[in-house]
Amino acid sequence: MTRRPVTDRLPTFPWDRLTPYKKIAADHPDGIVDLSVGTPVDPVPPGLRAALADAADSPGYPLTWGTPALRASITGWLERRHGVSVPEEGVLPTVGSKELVAWLPTLLGLGPGDTVVHPELAYPTYDIGARLAGATPVAADGLTALGPAPVRLLWVNSPSNPTGRVLGVPHLRKVVAWARERGVIVASDECYLDLGWEGEAPVSILHPDVSDGSHEGLLAVHSLSKRSNLAGYRAAFVAGDPALVQELLAVRKHAGMIVPAPVQAAMGAALDDDAHALEQKECYRARRDRLRAALTGAGWRIDHSQAGLYLWASHPDHDAWGAVEHLAERGILVAPGEFYGPAGGASVRVAFTATDERVGAAVARLSA
Ligand SMILES: Cc1ncc(COP(=O)(O)O)c(C=O)c1O
Repeated sequence: MTRRPVTDRLPTFPWDRLTPYKKIAADHPDGIVDLSVGTPVDPVPPGLRAALADAADSPGYPLTWGTPALRASITGWLERRHGVSVPEEGVLPTVGSKELVAWLPTLLGLGPGDTVVHPELAYPTYDIGARLAGATPVAADGLTALGPAPVRLLWVNSPSNPTGRVLGVPHLRKVVAWARERGVIVASDECYLDLGWEGEAPVSILHPDVSDGSHEGLLAVHSLSKRSNLAGYRAAFVAGDPALVQELLAVRKHAGMIVPAPVQAAMGAALDDDAHALEQKECYRARRDRLRAALTGAGWRIDHSQAGLYLWASHPDHDAWGAVEHLAERGILVAPGEFYGPAGGASVRVAFTATDERVGAAVARLSA
């Protein structure tokens, strides 16, 4: 039998399609302003670097479950910042959250015949995770549209990448009730939960107002990449139903999916300190305000975008790729909405993770 490569199950990596526009933008005499990927650009806070360095002498294998100190930092942060109370059996560090998103269906034992539902406009890795497991990904926002298909795992993502939309408590309660009736696991990707700008503050699926105090069947995914500029460290965690988390831990122990000890130390330091995160948030707020004003001043419409690190923008004269080209000609690179699902065909995602200087350059070009 001939081997069937795993890549046959996966879509082409969408970012390659942006390369020609990156070249156009890079030709701008004042250089490119890259607002496409959304990677942090500000320094790693000194206290977190010190925690990493202090733990550099780590010759032994780290604990897959994380050190007791890290578990305490995770449960403490959830309680303090988000009003969520979880026992330590309900938390588990992961090697960034993309890794967990991509492997969760496999780690939960899903496979052919199982359906994984994710939002219509979504971070592409939910779909990839289903495909890696051999399960079937389905993009659907409305629960009623799902019909009788035997759903095993449902992803929600509030605040959303790419739209910045926030799901309120009543919406999340409906999702939880629907899932409980059917024995479906809900995985809530909450990696932008701290980054609310307008309207109601984003709420965790684990919050008692949503979960009624029971975390059965619920998992929340959190990341330190954006909150603490630790994307390069690969630092994240999952929290929720202790039975599910312990099952994930057992499988991950066998598979060697372990956060390195120095990164565990840096994570603990990051979660114990709110000051650096608040400072970083204010930095993003200022960049968001400037870009938003410049875009609307230049005739762009901003939809959703109440939270998260992106502006979901559209222009009456362009579809998504036309808008990408229009901005690339001004030296600004953004992501076409289509990368996140067919419903994104009219919009672009504008990240505000560039330096103040680059944001200033974009603002000047949009206002010219
Ligand atoms: C919605 C969402 N989930 C997960 C991730 C992965 O983040 P990380 O792997 O850096 O924790 C991202 C990254 O941008 C994201 O936008």
